[in-house]
Amino acid sequence: MAKDFSAMEDSNTSSNPSIHEVSHPARRTLLGWGAGAAASALLAPLLAACASPSNSASSGPRISFKPIPIDTTDRLVVPEGYVASALAAWGEPIGVPGNMPSFKMDGSNSAADQSVQMGMHHDGLHFYALPGARSGLLVMNHEYTDDGLLHVGGMDNWSADKVRKAQAAHGISVIEVQQSGDSWSMVRPSRLARRFTASTPFAIGGPCRGHAMMRTADDPRGETILGTLNNCASGKTPWGTYLSGEENFAFYFSNTDDSNAHQKRWGLRKDSWTRWAEHDARFDISKTPNEPNRFGWVVEVDPMDPTSTPIKRTALGRAAHEGAWVAVTKDQRAVVYSGEDARNEYIYKFVSRDAIKPASGTLTQAQANRELLDHGTLYVAKFNADGSGQWLPLVHGQGPLTAANGFADQGEVLIKARQASDLLGATKMDRPEWLAIDPSNGWVYCTLTNNSSRGQPGQPAVDAANPRANNVMGQIIRWKDTGDFDGATMQWNHLVLAGDPAAQRLEAKGNIKGDLFACADGLAFDARGTLWVQTDMHASQMYKGELVNMGSNQMLACDTATGEMRRFLTGPVNCEITGVTWSPDGRTMFINIQHPGENASDRSDPKDPAKFSNWPDYAPGGRPRSSTVVIRKKDGGVIGT
Ligand code: FEO
Ligand code: CA
Ligand code: CA
Repeated sequence: MAKDFSAMEDSNTSSNPSIHEVSHPARRTLLGWGAGAAASALLAPLLAACASPSNSASSGPRISFKPIPIDTTDRLVVPEGYVASALAAWGEPIGVPGNMPSFKMDGSNSAADQSVQMGMHHDGLHFYALPGARSGLLVMNHEYTDDGLLHVGGMDNWSADKVRKAQAAHGISVIEVQQSGDSWSMVRPSRLARRFTASTPFAIGGPCRGHAMMRTADDPRGETILGTLNNCASGKTPWGTYLSGEENFAFYFSNTDDSNAHQKRWGLRKDSWTRWAEHDARFDISKTPNEPNRFGWVVEVDPMDPTSTPIKRTALGRAAHEGAWVAVTKDQRAVVYSGEDARNEYIYKFVSRDAIKPASGTLTQAQANRELLDHGTLYVAKFNADGSGQWLPLVHGQGPLTAANGFADQGEVLIKARQASDLLGATKMDRPEWLAIDPSNGWVYCTLTNNSSRGQPGQPAVDAANPRANNVMGQIIRWKDTGDFDGATMQWNHLVLAGDPAAQRLEAKGNIKGDLFACADGLAFDARGTLWVQTDMHASQMYKGELVNMGSNQMLACDTATGEMRRFLTGPVNCEITGVTWSPDGRTMFINIQHPGENASDRSDPKDPAKFSNWPDYAPGGRPRSSTVVIRKKDGGVIGT
């Protein structure tokens, strides 16, 4: 997400700033930003002082490509010996049999066309191998729309049709792809091609199914929700399904009640960013006050079964979910880590009650585990100043989570997970984005992308986990749960504070070893144990000069054993790099380029859509398009070598 939702979303005014941590004597010198010596003490040893992960998979250097410099031109650059090509850009027909309308570069495709074409703003994605041939499914999110680009005339003459088309450009795409020689293409038609949009029916799973706060006039039983939206990052489950986070849902709703504390805590407001409410009453809170409670969930999709009903998993809690990532305990229970990308919000984990079942009889493994994520316990993270941490349970009746404090039952705890976490004293984080679990040692990594409000008047103070005021660069935190992934405690440290080690301003100074970057967002381990880091610096930050030596958004490879960062890819003008997955042989990498050309100040100008970028088509009078990118080595080798 680069559209500056984050700057608007600032609704955690709860008074749980981890006071004892901020004033802990051992931390005091490190948190006193006045002295240069104290600052370098902060920047250097957070890595070394704490227990660090050992990496048993290490055998020789994992990263051997030649790093590339920063770039600011309207092109995508990969290292020597690599090639990259666009696949499945916004508007391409996904391949529904008998219904494959061509993309029209002038924006004139209808809402019905768009509902069977690739959505806008590609984000998290995963590859699901198909048996036999070198083929598979790519499942990916479409986070939001740029209405200036989506329609003829942009947002002029705003209409119900434009709302329907925008809703159809949201959600999730399932496409079939196959390899032939060195190249990949979409398989069209495909019986597995499928779109989930902002109007597809989703079942509700878990404790909030049927809950009074989930009921609306259109769904009096509280069992079916139309649509998913602002789908950001994704996770692939060991049982073969796809998890997608509903992130900045608050910006789709209009007409809040100013006196409603619940609506306020969730960042709901008078005016939405989308203007959907003008033509769709579901997004007008004054008419449908419970509708926002039906968004902000992790949704689960079974891409291999085109008839399956997608499900919102309420046991995982409601949040501005970036995404969801699954680890497995030694006794085969699923642990789902997630965070919410909003300033001063929280990191969560869910531990399933039951073990993951194998496939059995006629049931695929996905079908055998259809209720796995509906039963379990949700926890929120507290990071202490001494490098320890706790997972605090969000369980109704425990501690402050009682009816007297506004939680009638477990459903209400989950719908109001932010308020519950406030009361538990969880740590307010610098916008948690992606997580990644090191398969070799169980350390869990999380990008904290930035938080310019940290340390500002009336805002949370710096703390050990979020150590910089006006944090424009972000950091990557990591932890190891005690015992197994279900451990109630953890130890943690920082992999890196982003920014330039040579910078004078403390908020811009980082401790990167290797190539510079800022605002890490996407994060994933490949099968060889290399950690891939993707960035999402907002255009306004680049223009203000804060990130001037960082170039365009980029992707880097990190050897977590040494901390070395090496730049692998730079994107076209004002895009973000997001989503990464691999073919099973590790010789093809798929990433997504989102919103090439986005400019916060002038993005809705319909007269010159290619004013800032014309990637990837470079068509005269064209429109920049989000797209998946296929990356190969010319010698057919494994990516990263
Ligand atoms: Fe959708 Fe937090 O990025
Ligand atoms: Ca993101
Ligand atoms: Ca981001």
